Amino acid sequence: MNSRELGLVLAQQLLDVDDLHYGLWDDDLPLSLSNLGIAQQRYSDMLLDLISRQTAGIRDARILDVGCGTGHLLQQLRERGYRADAVNPSTALNRLVRERLGAHDDHDTLLLETGFESIPAAHRQNQYDLVLFSESFQYIPMAAGFEVLAGLLAPAGQAVICDFFKTAAHGQGGAGDRSFGGGHDLAEFYRRVGASGFAIELDEDLTRRVSPGIALLDDWLDERLVPATATLNRWLLDQHPLKTRVLKWLLRKQLARFNYKYLSGNRSQAVFERYKSYRLVVLSRSIPAE
Ligand SMILES: C[S@@+](CC[C@H](N)C(=O)[O-])C[C@H]1O[C@@H](n2cnc3c(N)ncnc32)[C@H](O)[C@@H]1O
Repeated sequence: MNSRELGLVLAQQLLDVDDLHYGLWDDDLPLSLSNLGIAQQRYSDMLLDLISRQTAGIRDARILDVGCGTGHLLQQLRERGYRADAVNPSTALNRLVRERLGAHDDHDTLLLETGFESIPAAHRQNQYDLVLFSESFQYIPMAAGFEVLAGLLAPAGQAVICDFFKTAAHGQGGAGDRSFGGGHDLAEFYRRVGASGFAIELDEDLTRRVSPGIALLDDWLDERLVPATATLNRWLLDQHPLKTRVLKWLLRKQLARFNYKYLSGNRSQAVFERYKSYRLVVLSRSIPAE
C-alpha cells in the first residue's frame, strides 16, 4: 500500500464514509461533519444526473467507474439500471467493493483490480458508453490514461472527469504551496485533451462548491489529529525517550513534511482555492475510433 492509498483507507475508516470525495457544499447546507454524507450524496447525485443526460437514448448504457473507492457510486449506477464495471487498484478498498456487490447479489459487475493505465489490451474493446473518473483522474498518468481511454470508449462514447487540478500558482512558493498533493497541471491537461483526439463538451468550475469541505477537514485535523499527535509524542518521549529521539531524527524529513501538510494549518480552504481548480469535464472523441 503506498502513502496515497494509505491516506484514502485511513480517511474512509476514521470518517466512516461511503464516498472518498469531498462532496458539494452549497450555501444551504451547514458546514458540519454530520452533513458530510449529505454533501457527498449531493455530489454523487450531480454525477448521476449528468450521466443520465449524457447517456439518454442509449439502451442499457455501459459504464466504467474508474477508481471506484468503496463502490458506493458503482452500486448506485447498477441500481439505476446501467451495466457498470469498475477498475480499482486498491486491494483494501476492493474488499469493501466486493462486500457491497455481494450484499446486493451482483454477479455481473466486473471489477478489474489494477490501475486504469494498466488495463490489459484484451479488455479495451471500445465497449463503454461512458467512462467516469470521480476524483480518480489525478492518480493516472495522463499520456497512458488517454491512450487507454481511447481503447475503452465506444465510437460515440464520453468521459466524465470530476477532479481537482493544479493551477498556475502551483510551485510559485506562496504560503501553503505544495501542502496539498495531487492533481494534474490544468494547462497541461487542456493541451493533452486536444493532442489525444478528444474534445471538451463541458467544463465547469466547481472549486467554490467543493472547497468548504476542505475547511471542514482542516478543522477536523486541528481538533483531532493535532492534539492526538501531541499526546502520542508526549507518551513516547516519556516511555522511550532515547528510542523516540533517535527515531524522530531518522524520520525528520518525513515528519517535517507531515507537519507541513497536516499539522501547520496549511490545508485551508484559501490555500486549496489558490492552488487547485476543481473541474467537472465531459470529453468526447474529436478523432473517430479506429
Ligand atoms: C479519492 S478516491 C475516489 C473514490 C471514488 N471514485 C469516489 O468518488 O468516492 C480515488 C480512487 O482512485 C483509485 N486509484 C488510485 N490510483 C488509480 C489508478 N492508477 N487507476 C485507477 N484508480 C486509481 C483509488 O484506489 C481510489 O479508489
